[in-house]
Amino acid sequence: MAQLWGGRFTKETDKLVYNFNASISFDKKFYREDMEGSMAHVKMLTAVGILTEEEKEQILAGIEGILNDVENGTLEITDEYEDIHSFVEANLIDRIGDPGKKLHTGRSRNDQVALDMKLYTRKELLAIRDELEELLKTCHKLMKENVHTAMPGFTHLQKAQPLTLAHHIGAYMEMFKRDHDRLGDIYDRMNYCPLGSGALAGTTYPLDRELTASLLDFYGPTLNSMDSVSDRDYVIELLSALSIIMMHLSRFCEEIILWNSNEYQFVEIDDAYSTGSSIMPQKKNPDIAELVRGKTGRVYGALTSLLTTMKGIPLAYNKDMQEDKEMAFDAYDTVKGCIALFTGMLKTITFRTQNMENSAKNGFTNATDAADYLVNHGVPFRDAHGIVGQLVLFCIDKGIALDDMTLEEYKAISPVFEEDIYEAISLKTCIEKRNTIGAPGPEAMEAVLSINEKWIEEHLK
Ligand code: ARG
Repeated sequence: MAQLWGGRFTKETDKLVYNFNASISFDKKFYREDMEGSMAHVKMLTAVGILTEEEKEQILAGIEGILNDVENGTLEITDEYEDIHSFVEANLIDRIGDPGKKLHTGRSRNDQVALDMKLYTRKELLAIRDELEELLKTCHKLMKENVHTAMPGFTHLQKAQPLTLAHHIGAYMEMFKRDHDRLGDIYDRMNYCPLGSGALAGTTYPLDRELTASLLDFYGPTLNSMDSVSDRDYVIELLSALSIIMMHLSRFCEEIILWNSNEYQFVEIDDAYSTGSSIMPQKKNPDIAELVRGKTGRVYGALTSLLTTMKGIPLAYNKDMQEDKEMAFDAYDTVKGCIALFTGMLKTITFRTQNMENSAKNGFTNATDAADYLVNHGVPFRDAHGIVGQLVLFCIDKGIALDDMTLEEYKAISPVFEEDIYEAISLKTCIEKRNTIGAPGPEAMEAVLSINEKWIEEHLK
């Protein structure tokens, strides 16, 4: 049990206490960030004259050696150390002796862990954003291919009005664009370096915090040392953005599960993204979509957990904050995995476009257009609504669609109808005439596609 702080203690820590307190089992995840932070700190200490060039070279070589050995598997991070910071420092002192004991000059584990968590979170944020970029490109491609693929649009899960597959996927494209922007906003807000804040009140050493910040690619140093060591807002913001991403993915998954069902048959999930049943040989289950939908819960859980952990903590650092890690790490991994798998599923899915079109033709998705026809012929909308209600009742009774009624039958309900009603309520007209900004008509869709094309060029790698 190697501890950094044994000096004022006369008794060994109780084993249970030691284990309860230790964080090595999970903070070893940011061993790389911990060592990168230490290397920047050492360079800065040298630049301000606290360490000599020679000490710097020895410490940097020592840390690089530890990093290499960890990465090539010759040095294992074991739980005989309390945390990753102790692991690095103890190994450094073992390797280079006295200069290693100077590593922690002008630094506390409080600002060190604040830095490590920030560096790790920043890296994960960018990795998640990369996954999102692939998803955005996939949605854009599917939209371009499906400007004319008709399908029913739903409200209350009841057929409402016809639209296109491009339009439906376009809704998710907008959500994922906002998700992408949110990650960028969080990055910009969080990208300030806490190192040099000490335990809570800065330090009397003449540290150059600007230099440390720039060595670690931050925009600059944080401005209040108490806030620096007790701020986890950026983790909460990220977990919140990740929860929203999962909510969007989960809704899309829910639709894919419905569309893949025997009743809808709008899509067929590729064999590579489906699983079978151990008992029912005919089954091909949408497990990946269900798992993404299901994993949404654990990401929300991470957000709720950290919000709750942080809410009663007096300034500045308190050990409660060690609880920021496990669930956040799990959420980062979960979201990265879910976006990647979802994108793979979407890239390989088959859209059964004929079934979608047939479905759009049934279920009176053109009823609003029949009412609009009457309005265009001078009937007030509320009366038109009532007349079309009668048409629908008539059709339900006969088991036919509006398109199948004879003109006589139309005229029997309202004399305003003429031969051109058939064209006015055809699926093609219903979709192609809807060209207000953001609507599914092809002109409106082309306009959005070119805006998205430009957005992709400007925002994605
Ligand atoms: N493992 C601790 C954490 O994750 C590191 C900071 C320890 N600082 C302290 N004062 N005990 O928060």
